[in-house]
Amino acid sequence: MPRHRACRANSGEGATLRIPARTDHISVNSYLLIKNLHIGFALLSLAGFTLRGFWMLTESALLQARATRVLPHINDTLLLASAIWLVVITRQYPLLVGWVTIKIGLLLLYIGFGTMALKRGKTRKSRAVYFVVSLLTIAGIFTAALTKPGW
Ligand code: HEM
Repeated sequence: MPRHRACRANSGEGATLRIPARTDHISVNSYLLIKNLHIGFALLSLAGFTLRGFWMLTESALLQARATRVLPHINDTLLLASAIWLVVITRQYPLLVGWVTIKIGLLLLYIGFGTMALKRGKTRKSRAVYFVVSLLTIAGIFTAALTKPGW
């Protein structure tokens, strides 16, 4: 079965979209809405993590502010909820679809390295190294999402 199908956008402009072949049971609009929300949460997660990493490196008190500790959890919950929703509506399940499996593996590494970078790393130097590795890991997640390698 082809992995994508071409589809006319509902905007009436005649643009052609590539959407996963297995979304024929749902409306293209709801797929695009959830996917764009998911991308938004992913970009916010990257921006928020980069800012917290900067505050960690500059030893800013803002890193310990209540909003800094609470907001990422809310965004990450929404990111994960939209991810699960996309998995279900596009029927691209982990272990069956390579790039989804890769994303989950890298996400677990990102959480682990990120915790070391912002909290658990013993010295500022080691936290800085974990921070860079976390950024490389999230770059890998974006690459996997956009290129969809796998089996
Ligand atoms: C930091 C974590 C994540 C980032 C940065 C991220 C990023 C992205 C991006 C950029 C896209 C759009 C790809 C495109 O335009 O085709 C996407 C789509 C998607 N993501 Fe994520 N994602 C993350 C986590 C996850 C997780 C954990 C899962 C699975 C449990 C997941 C499942 C999906 C699915 C199913 C799609 C739809 C792909 C399609 O249209 O075929 N994502 N993600």
